[in-house]
Amino acid sequence: MAERNSPSVGLISQKSLFSLLLIASILFIMSWLFVLRSTGRPHFADHSLLPNSKLLAVMDNENYESWSPSDNEPSTLSSSAVDDNVEIPRRNDLVDCNTNKVVLKVFMYDLPPEFHFELIEWKGDGKSVWPDIKTKVPEYPGGLNLQHSIEYWLTLDLLSSDFADIMNGRSAIRVLNSSEADVIFVPFFSSISYNRYSRSKPNKRSSMNKLLQEKLVTFLTAQEEWKRSGGRDHIIVAHHPNSLLDARMKLWPAIFILSDFGRYPPNIANVEKDVIAPYKHVIRNFVDDSSNFDTRPTLLYFQGAIYRKDGGFVRQELFYLLKDEKDVHFSFGSVQRDGISKATQGMHSSKFCLNIAGDTPSSNRLFDAIASHCVPVIISDEIELPYEDVLDYSQFCIFVRTSDALKEKFLINLIRSIKRDEWTRMWAKLKEVENFFEYQYPSKEGDAVQMIWQAVARKVPPIKMKLHKSRRFSRSPPPRVGALQSVPLPRNFVRLGML
Ligand SMILES: *[C@@H]1O[C@H](CO)[C@@H](O)[C@H](O)[C@H]1NC(C)=O
Repeated sequence: MAERNSPSVGLISQKSLFSLLLIASILFIMSWLFVLRSTGRPHFADHSLLPNSKLLAVMDNENYESWSPSDNEPSTLSSSAVDDNVEIPRRNDLVDCNTNKVVLKVFMYDLPPEFHFELIEWKGDGKSVWPDIKTKVPEYPGGLNLQHSIEYWLTLDLLSSDFADIMNGRSAIRVLNSSEADVIFVPFFSSISYNRYSRSKPNKRSSMNKLLQEKLVTFLTAQEEWKRSGGRDHIIVAHHPNSLLDARMKLWPAIFILSDFGRYPPNIANVEKDVIAPYKHVIRNFVDDSSNFDTRPTLLYFQGAIYRKDGGFVRQELFYLLKDEKDVHFSFGSVQRDGISKATQGMHSSKFCLNIAGDTPSSNRLFDAIASHCVPVIISDEIELPYEDVLDYSQFCIFVRTSDALKEKFLINLIRSIKRDEWTRMWAKLKEVENFFEYQYPSKEGDAVQMIWQAVARKVPPIKMKLHKSRRFSRSPPPRVGALQSVPLPRNFVRLGML
């Protein structure tokens, strides 16, 4: 019996040994995967996919698809958001995400100089449309005009793309054949046109600003480039809230570059279609800022104009709530040229800087605060922020709802509850992100000009999708004449009193 059974026993034990081994190795692999999941994920995220996942969400489209904050791992995310030891990415990490990016191809109309450089008093030779910026760059008028000078910096960057040999860090290049372009840039200096030329001459019916806008509409709508896209791939800069007031009702299919949407009906401009650009700050940069929580004596700083409209009410209320608080500087009066150095000193020596909605949701106060490394406290429920799809402002700004800010002691208690460590973390972030808000010529990698081009580039895929779809039946007779060009009136047109 024993002898007859022994082979089968041996067989059974061999089988069970094998399955035991199998189970053991499965368990081993599973436990290993578990360890990887719990400890390894941040490594994948930080080093391969998202070089700088904490600060800039995602910089390029490929990664955009593969990572979304709502992806089944809320614990990892929320813990990294409040992690006390958030390591600050080095400057290299910040710009890393721009490498290997596809460069935006931009065609720029050769608009007559009266639309651009002549508005800032450049006198051409009558032959060339553009100044020769290799020899001399015309200056933009200084003072408060500069805060809306975005039109100028973008145009200069495109002009310089013809001869700049350093492609490094460039997010857009100028192409001379519009068929090869991703977008079409309209070089109208609308903000300076509004600021300088909106008063009518005594003997003229309209102001020059109005006339230029009429001419622009006539010019654009006659162009092949406009017709083939219905204007959708055109970039028009209208950073001053009152610039382009007339033309925008006819040019609204284009991508506008704006400071906010405060004075726009939602169908004329919105966050899906358009790009929000920072103001150019008027406060001087805090170079070599070695200040800290204790060396900035003022807790909370506000200096701004008082408005008669809604914004003025909030500012007034906050003034009464804060005026007797220790270490709070709160005063009215807009920053004029002579006040700039005082305001610079004030912001450079404050821990927190208030940004309260004025007559528009945005103001350059925010960008002054960033340049001063003064942690912005934003009280503006309708504000839209530049590049917010890739930049998490909560890491270096405090947001307070207006309704909360107007509660007794709410704001001051909140500010006082932010202690040295947390403030220092935000201050360090401000130093990292400030370059994203710098306008300069020549533009440098990762500055405001490049960030705006990148924001425009992110608008291109949905535009192309719409255009391609609209061409599906181009061989069939059109349903209506010029269906694409004759854009229907926005729904809110009449209701919003724009007619
Ligand atoms: C512009 O580009 C298109 C498409 O690449 C090409 O067919 C056309 O010939 C080009 N035009 C000129 C003037 O080079």
